[in-house]
Amino acid sequence: MIQEIARLREEIDSFSFNSKDDTEQFRLRFLSKKGAIGELFARFRNIPAQEKRDLGAELNRLKQYAATLYEERLKELESAETGKKGVHEDLTMPPYPFVTGSRHPISIIRNEITDIFSRVGFTVSEGPEIEDDAHVFSKLNFAPDHPARDMQDTFFISRNSEIESSPDDILLRTHTSSVQVRVMESEKPPIRTISPGRVFRNEAISARAHCIFHQVEGLYIDHDVSFADLKQVLLYFCTEMFGSGTEIRLRPSYFPFTEPSAELDVSCLLCGGKGCNVCKYSGWLEVLGCGMVHPAVLEACGIDSKEYTGYAFGMGIERIAMLKYNVNDLRLYFENDVRFLSQFGTAL
Ligand code: PHE
Repeated sequence: MIQEIARLREEIDSFSFNSKDDTEQFRLRFLSKKGAIGELFARFRNIPAQEKRDLGAELNRLKQYAATLYEERLKELESAETGKKGVHEDLTMPPYPFVTGSRHPISIIRNEITDIFSRVGFTVSEGPEIEDDAHVFSKLNFAPDHPARDMQDTFFISRNSEIESSPDDILLRTHTSSVQVRVMESEKPPIRTISPGRVFRNEAISARAHCIFHQVEGLYIDHDVSFADLKQVLLYFCTEMFGSGTEIRLRPSYFPFTEPSAELDVSCLLCGGKGCNVCKYSGWLEVLGCGMVHPAVLEACGIDSKEYTGYAFGMGIERIAMLKYNVNDLRLYFENDVRFLSQFGTAL
């Protein structure tokens, strides 16, 4: 009988359960009264008393083993079948949180800026990051010895001479004004466009400066464009960007490609102008550079400066994002630390 028990155990182990029908077959074959184990129990009664103890224990173990296996397989097959029908055990269970990424703050602000300007008729233009001197400097009225062309500021890729610059020197653009030159060369006024993009300057990386950053520059050229138009569009932009109570002020400045030139400040977003450590107790925050396009620039790009006038402006996206989100270290935008980035929501 001990051999039969071993043989049955083997048979049980090699039984394959593929469906609920199989579990029923298993029950009939091994566990029912007339099944193989039941039969052994019937024969057990006639066994000599001295063998009963050991055999009984073996037999009970076999029965227990088969019964547990049967219960387990039955449960598994039942839950697999309900799963297939799409019915879950507990329909009230909350779903796993579906974690999506979020937009980078620089993308959020860039989209916001392009949205604001597209509402007043500006198109979006793009151009190459690797540029020539003509589009980044010469046609924008930079004097040949202007310090911005210096190795200290510009990443050169190939240079014809170490001493003087030439319009076909190849470099990484230091501002997206180069895109505006390309637009002026290829399109006729009226031109109303903004150019967002990455720019490169040879600066030591710190909380306030980086060698790569993002700009949005704007250009409007038409008949009779005046400084008042510039002021109006900038006031519109600042109130859309920073809130309806925002005030602006323009301070005289200098850029080779605009005349007159100005720098625009907004009333401090934090203290509203009273003075705090964000605005360094001045009440104002510097936001962008702007001015009327220099006639020499229009002429260099093939636009008649007697017929047309225009304004231009340019801003750093990081700077706007820092002001808006009160971030005090520029490097955070480049480190891709999810603890920083995930604060900007899941808005895609
Ligand atoms: N190009 C300037 C810069 O990179 C910004 C600017 C654009 C200023 C247009 C005036 C007019 O800083």
